Amino acid sequence: MTHALGIDIGGTGIKGAVVDTITGELVSERKKIATPKSGKPDAIVKVVVEIIAELGGIAPDMPVGVCFPAIVRNGKTMSAANISDEWIGLEAEKLFEKALGRDIHFVNDADAAGVAEVRYGAAKGVPGLVLLTTLGTGIGSALIYNGTLVPNSELGHLLIGGRDAEKGASFAAKERRRLSWAAWAKRLQRYYSHLEMLFSPDLILVGGGVSKSHEKFLPLLKLNAPIIPAKLRNNAGILGAAALAVKE
Ligand code: BGC
Repeated sequence: MTHALGIDIGGTGIKGAVVDTITGELVSERKKIATPKSGKPDAIVKVVVEIIAELGGIAPDMPVGVCFPAIVRNGKTMSAANISDEWIGLEAEKLFEKALGRDIHFVNDADAAGVAEVRYGAAKGVPGLVLLTTLGTGIGSALIYNGTLVPNSELGHLLIGGRDAEKGASFAAKERRRLSWAAWAKRLQRYYSHLEMLFSPDLILVGGGVSKSHEKFLPLLKLNAPIIPAKLRNNAGILGAAALAVKE
């Protein structure tokens, strides 16, 4: 089976589509429903079930991958930065498996995006260390060395000036504080310089919805490594989750 369903659970929206995991193309419509305000497990599972219904259902043997904005270890969610605390320590993979009546693959959202960029996007065939960051409600990160993912890097929570990096430098922080592109870029400069000092990456990718406006802020950053927009934008999570579901 080369087609798989990818579901991307985010702080603001939950998206899903069927993917051809060989080509990395969506082969169904992409459905999106707003993330329930409570961010609680049952409410989110319900939305995922709704998305599958809106897609007209899926074949019983179709692999399903779900990505989520938290640390995921052996199917368990271990953190909850922008979602309900009820996820901490939850057997999330099992919860979805019960609701959907099938095995699924459950993974961190930025890690899924990283895998997608390696398979189908801007990190394909890139040797050395690639650092993907997603700038959205939070800051997600994926570390990829010679095509292999080092999971759960959580670099959005580095302390910059004694403060959680994503609180000051995510896209949500830009919106919240109505920062200009230049003012936001100053915060990003500090963040990415710190990342560079720690990891010396060969390539930095910037994903998340705002990466479509990359020309407004990426040219303002001065770093040693090239810093470029991720290729798969808003579909990266869906694509990576689907790809990982098939690999399982
Ligand atoms: C979470 C990460 C997630 C990122 C992007 C952070 O707040 O801790 O697990 O990847 O947001 O959604």
